[in-house]
Amino acid sequence: MFKGKISIIGDGLVGSTTAYTLMLGAVASEIVILDINRDKAEGDVLDMNHGMSFISPMTIVAGDYEQIRGSDIVIITAGANQKPGETRIALLQRNTAIFKDIIQQITKYCHDDTILLVVTNPVDILTYITYKLSDFSPHKVIGSGTVLDTSRLKYMIGERAKVDLRNVHTYIIGEHGDSEVAAWSSTSIAGMSLDEFCKSCKRCDGCGLDDTDKLYQAVKNAAYEIIGKKGATFYAVALAVRRIVECIIGNENSILTVSTLMQGEYGVKDVCLSLPTIVDHEGVEKVLEIQLDDLETAAFRDSAQKLRKLAKEIGF
Ligand code: LAC
Repeated sequence: MFKGKISIIGDGLVGSTTAYTLMLGAVASEIVILDINRDKAEGDVLDMNHGMSFISPMTIVAGDYEQIRGSDIVIITAGANQKPGETRIALLQRNTAIFKDIIQQITKYCHDDTILLVVTNPVDILTYITYKLSDFSPHKVIGSGTVLDTSRLKYMIGERAKVDLRNVHTYIIGEHGDSEVAAWSSTSIAGMSLDEFCKSCKRCDGCGLDDTDKLYQAVKNAAYEIIGKKGATFYAVALAVRRIVECIIGNENSILTVSTLMQGEYGVKDVCLSLPTIVDHEGVEKVLEIQLDDLETAAFRDSAQKLRKLAKEIGF
């Protein structure tokens, strides 16, 4: 199986956990880690390389921007992250300034044959900024978007329904943030809606599967809860990033709710948001306009309007 060259800009909690998760996932032949704190990157690289005898061989190095040349994917995790109670949008000004430098550096060494995968928050606006500043084709600029939120909802549904998460089909769409939308009208277990599953289940132990608003609030507020307890989130988002990388490197055509440039979906343009998207080795193959009811469609458009306004306020 082809394994890619993956560069990671930013070696903080998310970046280093992503590097380690990719290392375990055998999706990369080479990982280049960059950080303004060179010692941190070099220390992580030494620490990971010392475990190399336990996994399939690959190359992991700490580098400068010049070393990212030829990357299949450049993952951007650099920037400030949320403090307890802080919204992702509150990071916008600081991280936009950081991105202007990062994208300028990346485009010196990588061009439209490289996929840019943005993880830093607020991820949707920063994905849009990356698209505008890099001048890459829109299908080559992807944000981790609501891939993590969709996984959170799958977990919460599967835990209550007591079924394998792989048999839970659901999507969180829109902003990876406070205006995200649960696509209940496209949610199913064995082809049944949650209501139909509940009626057929007969194990009713008050599992809460029927309380969709409570499920939605739990997903939307998950990061705040975790950050309040341990100061940051990094395991699940690193696994979400690995899933996206696997899909690209493996040319899978899997459907993931990555954030990408809207080009008229539900009447939305000129903003990056998450919708179920077919992802392959070229990046975004096709964004899918799934079945949404009127409320979900309106909420998706509201999410788009919120982010378009914020992007405009900072000059994009
Ligand atoms: C979270 C961060 C990655 O949702 O935004 O955990």
